[in-house]
Amino acid sequence: MTLPPTDERNAAQSAHWNGPGGERWVSHQRMLDALLAEVAELLMERAAARAGETVLDIGCGAGTTSIALARQVAPSGRVLGVDISAPLLERARQHVPGGLPVEFALGDATVYPFEPAGADLLFSRFGVMFFAEPARSFVNLRGGLRPGARLVFACWREPRENPWLTPTSTFRGCPRSDPRIRDSSRSPPSRGSAASSNVRDSAPLSSSLSICPLMSPRAMASTVR
Ligand SMILES: C[S@@+](CC[C@H](N)C(=O)[O-])C[C@H]1O[C@@H](n2cnc3c(N)ncnc32)[C@H](O)[C@@H]1O
Repeated sequence: MTLPPTDERNAAQSAHWNGPGGERWVSHQRMLDALLAEVAELLMERAAARAGETVLDIGCGAGTTSIALARQVAPSGRVLGVDISAPLLERARQHVPGGLPVEFALGDATVYPFEPAGADLLFSRFGVMFFAEPARSFVNLRGGLRPGARLVFACWREPRENPWLTPTSTFRGCPRSDPRIRDSSRSPPSRGSAASSNVRDSAPLSSSLSICPLMSPRAMASTVR
């Protein structure tokens, strides 16, 4: 299989997502989409994509969120899903309903040649947390956003706070009063992929997730410099 042009520091991730990681995700896609539906719902609500907008879905995988976004921006807008995994993009292309304004591109988001200042919204469900050097990757992503564009993504916090990696915890197990919840309105975002926000008090998932608040590219740029 030909691997996409990749920042050499992301080579191991590329091999993983074009190998066993990608195959596993393809085989369990329906189950994973069901498990992650609540996260998609939170992000879609936050992103509030509008008809006519151009959206980048980074690490779009099998395309579920790209398709949902395309329904919101149609008919005049468009969605570009970018992913480093050929098998996942093949899956994405298989299930796009005809007529939706969505395209998929194989590439490493760290070096992908985005149309300069072309997008209104950068969206990602767990697709921006595998970069070897997040700052470098986010600078490239920033280049694809027009002034005033929005950034909305979800990523896990530390492995010990990730219920998927903790056999004894359950996906919905964190109490709402969990002290790990940080409110981004009181503390500034830390790193590019670690801006934390308890997006919705009633959502137990948000206690172990980092969901980036809406930020202008300026704010994102100041996060990643
Ligand atoms: C956890 S999966 C999430 C997939 C999809 N966003 C979803 O929610 O179903 C992470 C995705 O990020 C992609 N990915 C990892 N590193 C990437 C990179 N450097 N550039 C683009 N995509 C990347 C993987 O191939 C994979 O599809």
